[in-house]
Amino acid sequence: MEEEKKEERSITEGADDVRILAFLCNWCSYAGADLAGVSRLQYPPNVLDVRVMCTGTISPYFVVKAFQEGMDGVLIAGCHIGDCHYLKGNYMTAKRFQVLREALRFLGLEEGRLRLEWVSAAEGEKYAEVVRSFTEQVRALGPSPLRRVPAGAKGRGEEVGRRRK
Ligand code: FES
Repeated sequence: MEEEKKEERSITEGADDVRILAFLCNWCSYAGADLAGVSRLQYPPNVLDVRVMCTGTISPYFVVKAFQEGMDGVLIAGCHIGDCHYLKGNYMTAKRFQVLREALRFLGLEEGRLRLEWVSAAEGEKYAEVVRSFTEQVRALGPSPLRRVPAGAKGRGEEVGRRRK
């Protein structure tokens, strides 16, 4: 009973807390996250996972869209350099990452809201540590300025709605 309450509390804290979207490559980082889960390693519940076949398939558009949809941070995690199952996917990701950082600056977001990590299927502990440290980093930055105004709250979204009438 006490454990259920504890679990419930942590999920609720996560909902009110910063929100992070994690793009995880199927072959390495998703398996690493799975290992962290089955090993019952503790890490914050703020991360929403999106499984992709390879980090090379992640369009910069998806990352920008995640921020536009109200995510406070985006994590991209894939196979270590040289281990990509599609040979060059993570090389492309590493190059694109530089462009993405520029795009973030253009959007008025801090670079610290985006992180790229290489996590293998055997690195459950590393995955948990990455989530812990990235969540702390994003918490320190606070909610994203692009976060949408919640429904019913007075704010910019409501004003825009009024102008349309
Ligand atoms: S398959 Fe994992 S990064 Fe390409």
